[in-house]
Order: sequence, then C-alpha cells, then structure tokens
Amino acid sequence: MTETATGTIIQAKISFSGKAESNFFVIVSKANTYEEFRGVYLTPEVEKWKKEYAPLLIDNNKLEWGEIKAPLYAIPSRMATIHSSLVTQKLGKINIDTIGLLLRAIVTAEVVNHYNAVHLPKRGTFIPGKTKVNYAGRVYDEKEIVNLVCSSLDFWLTAGPYANTLEKQFKDFYGAEKFLLVNSGSSANLLMAATLCSKQLKEHLKPGDEVITPAVTFPTTLTPLLQYQLTPVFVDCEIGTYNIIAEEIEGAISERTRAIFVPHTLGNPCDMEIIVDVAERHNLFLLEDSCDALGATFGGKLVGTFGDMASLSFYPAHHITMGEGGGVVVNNTEMARIALSIRDWGRDCWCDTGKNNTCGKRFEQQWGELPFGYDHKYVYSNIGYNLKITDMQAAVGCAQFEKIDTFITKRKQNYTKYFNFLKELEEFLILPQHHKKANPSWFGFPITVKKGVNRKKLIKYLDSFGIETRLVFAGNILRQPGFLDIPKRIHGKLENTERIMNDTFFLGVYPGATDQMIEYVVDKIADFFK
Ligand SMILES: Cc1ncc(COP(=O)(O)O)c(C=O)c1O
Repeated sequence: MTETATGTIIQAKISFSGKAESNFFVIVSKANTYEEFRGVYLTPEVEKWKKEYAPLLIDNNKLEWGEIKAPLYAIPSRMATIHSSLVTQKLGKINIDTIGLLLRAIVTAEVVNHYNAVHLPKRGTFIPGKTKVNYAGRVYDEKEIVNLVCSSLDFWLTAGPYANTLEKQFKDFYGAEKFLLVNSGSSANLLMAATLCSKQLKEHLKPGDEVITPAVTFPTTLTPLLQYQLTPVFVDCEIGTYNIIAEEIEGAISERTRAIFVPHTLGNPCDMEIIVDVAERHNLFLLEDSCDALGATFGGKLVGTFGDMASLSFYPAHHITMGEGGGVVVNNTEMARIALSIRDWGRDCWCDTGKNNTCGKRFEQQWGELPFGYDHKYVYSNIGYNLKITDMQAAVGCAQFEKIDTFITKRKQNYTKYFNFLKELEEFLILPQHHKKANPSWFGFPITVKKGVNRKKLIKYLDSFGIETRLVFAGNILRQPGFLDIPKRIHGKLENTERIMNDTFFLGVYPGATDQMIEYVVDKIADFFK
C-alpha cells in the first residue's frame, strides 16, 4: 500500500480560508509525477454542505483500518490537489464499498457537468429554415447519462439490477402477468409469434394456421408470422385512424384462423371493443403491436393489456428509448414461462443471471430423453433465441421510464396544436381521427392528402425547408419487393390500404418538438397551398 492509496484519510496543511490551517481529506487519486494527488474534503459539519451533491457519511464502520474521533462527511464538490509533503497524518482508510460510492459520486458530478456544458447548449434555439425539424429523436437529460455511466461502473453488462427494476416497473405499469425486456420491438413481435407456436402451449399454432392482420403495417409486425409459416389474412385499414377495420375482422375468419395481430398505428388505439369480442367468440389468440402506443388507452384501459401479449419498442423514435430495445407484455399465465424460455435460448431454467437452483430441483428431474438429473440449467424445452438486452440499455430505460407521463402529455399537446392549426386546411387534408373510447398516445400526426393534392410534392416541399416527414411505414406491405410472393389470404379489397400507401404521411409530435417548430411547419404547409 502506498502512502497515498485511494481511500486513505489524511490531515494536510491545505487552507480554504487564506489562513494557515489544516483540513481532513480522503484521497481519491493516484499521485502524479510531482507527488500530488486529489483529496475530497472531509467535514463534521454536514449542514453547511447539504445543498451540494451527495455528501457521503464516513464513520468508523466504513474504515478498513484506523480510527476517526467523530463521523465525517466527504464533500465531492470540494476537492484539493495536495502535495505529499503537506500531509501531516494518516488516520485510516475507507473500505472498498465506500471508495466505490465516493468515486461514483465524483464521476456522477462530472457527468452532470459534461451534460450541462456539452449536451445542453447543443439543444440551442430554433432558427427557422436552418434548424432541422426532425420527426422524432431522443429526449433525455443528465439522468439517462448518469444511469448509463453508473451501469458501466457496475460493469454488470448483461441484464442485471437495472433490467430487473425496469421489468418490475413495466409489469406494474401494465398490471401484467409478466414483462420481458428484449433487444427490439421487432424481437418482441418475433417472441410473441414464437410463443404462440411453442409446443409447450396447449393449443399452439401450426404451419398454415391463419392470423388476421392489417396490410398497412410495419414489416416486422408481419415477418414473424411468415417466419413461423403462419398465413397472414389481410384486412383493409381505415383512413383517419389508419387501423384495421375492426368490423371486417369477423368476416375474414376461416376454419384455419387462430389469431388476430393488430398494431395500434401511430399510437392510436384500434377498436378493442369489437376486436376483443370477436377474439373471444371465435377462441382466437390476440396479439397487440403497441410499439407506437405506450400509454394509449381504450375505454380507460391501457392498450397492451387487451390481448394475450403485446409488444413495445424503445428505439429512439418511440415514446421512451434505450437505444435499441423493446418489451413484451405477457397477460396470459401459460405464455409467461414459454416467452421467458424462448427469449433466453429456449432453456427451461428460469434462474436470473448469476443465480443457480432457483427451482430447488436442479439435479433431480427427468427431462426429455436426457439422463435423469441432467443439470436443469442446460435443459431446453423450446427452440429459442437470445433476445435479451444489456444492463446499460436498461439503465437508460430506467431514467426514461420516469418521464413517460411528461412525454405522453407533451406528445398529446403537440398533436392538439397541429390539429387546431391544420383544421383550416381541411379543404386539402384529411386530419387524424380516433374512436370515441380511444385516448391515443400519439407517435405521429398522420395526414392524408385529398384528391388533387400531390403528396410527393408536398413532402419534398417540406423537406426543402428541413422539415422531416414519414410515410405510414410499409404502406401496402404486399407491394413491397420482399413481400410480393408471400403466402397470404386477402379479405375483401384493400382500397384504403392503397390510398394510405399513396396519399398518407405523418409529422412528428415527439416531446423535442417546440411550439416554434410546430408553427413553422404549419406555416410552410399553409404556404404550399397558397
Ligand atoms: C408498429 C411497429 N412495430 C414494430 C416496430 C419495430 O420496432 P424496433 O425498431 O424496435 O425493432 C416498429 C418500429 O418503429 C413499429 O413502429
């Protein structure tokens, strides 16, 4: 141990008052070439420092060796560079856990400093015509970065304490049977389809079974069905809500139909009254793609809680983000274990990472045709994947979770502003609509241009002013190059689907959009029609 080992408590001739005085410090760095090291100020008088970030109590219980006469508080915001010749005595050394807490407090303070100095000014002011009006983006403050850095310091890496916290928070948020974090919204959809097809599920789906879904969709809402050789049955969508026409679902059911899979497009809830009723009467599984709809409700009930399972995406464009990420809300008891197994390599064991023998029968069971007592940790009862996230992603997610309510409120406000402004242009534009029981949590502001208006011209015009727009995902997915020859059945005509592909686009309502930006966008749209 060197004299200045990190954690050593010293007294040194360092003055903060200009007068000759000596103070106590705890060393927090190695000595440099000039035999100087950094020390955090220690004081018995915490009252004076209460407003500072994280004063840390140090008493004799926290010492590895040595003794202090009375408890002291380490004040990370008061640090001194101390030459070793100024040290008059060494009183002891704080233990490794306390060193960890103190260094974490110092790093955290620097992270906040970095955020304020580097990230915050970049938000800057909006300069019309110069600043891009994005349709979406990450909205965060220092808390996300602090969590991310803290998870790096923990160095847990795989899903760990942050992931467990976030899964519990989402489980409670939805009142779900289980909530599983996964590495994307697409993986969430894949996991739901795989669960419905698992042989462990009593009435599981088989190749050729049909699933009713809309043709206006995001590709990876549909692809898992194809990957599991299920046959999608396409139903048309409504202009205005851009959701599946619920009244047409029942007519699309055949003897092979086993499930309904509906996205709540752009955060606008589908008619869940009709859809749940049809699913129940025909004994169909119900999946919701809620990737765009975190916090939306229908009849006062959260979307994502109507079906057997629902997916969420935490990609930056979505309501909350963790970079890449997603989740599955599992509302069905039988499916909870199966979905967990498929997410985690298909294994039968449900121990958390780093845990063993949670079931208490690790070497005491018969599995398949394996020798009796084969280690349960290596028993695979499903053909699974590894769709897990890292704890760094979850750390960001935990900070974002706290912001869900404010994000949703801001999205709704932005939506309302667009709606009120654009009402005057209804001669040219079809504005969004929603079911009277729906309380959407808007992902975007969808607009369909009326006859005689050229959508391409309009969105290119907006683009020339730095205003981003997006189409409603794949449009008619059946016209996408990768989907031309997929096995399918089409119920009725996909007339609105075609119209949406040709005439619909959306504007961003994400919480980063300011009033100034919205007014600018609206002015430009109005100019286009002058
Ligand atoms: C409705 C819908 N489903 C699924 C996804 C896929 O989510 P991810 O990008 O996280 O894979 C998206 C992505 O934007 C989406 O909008």
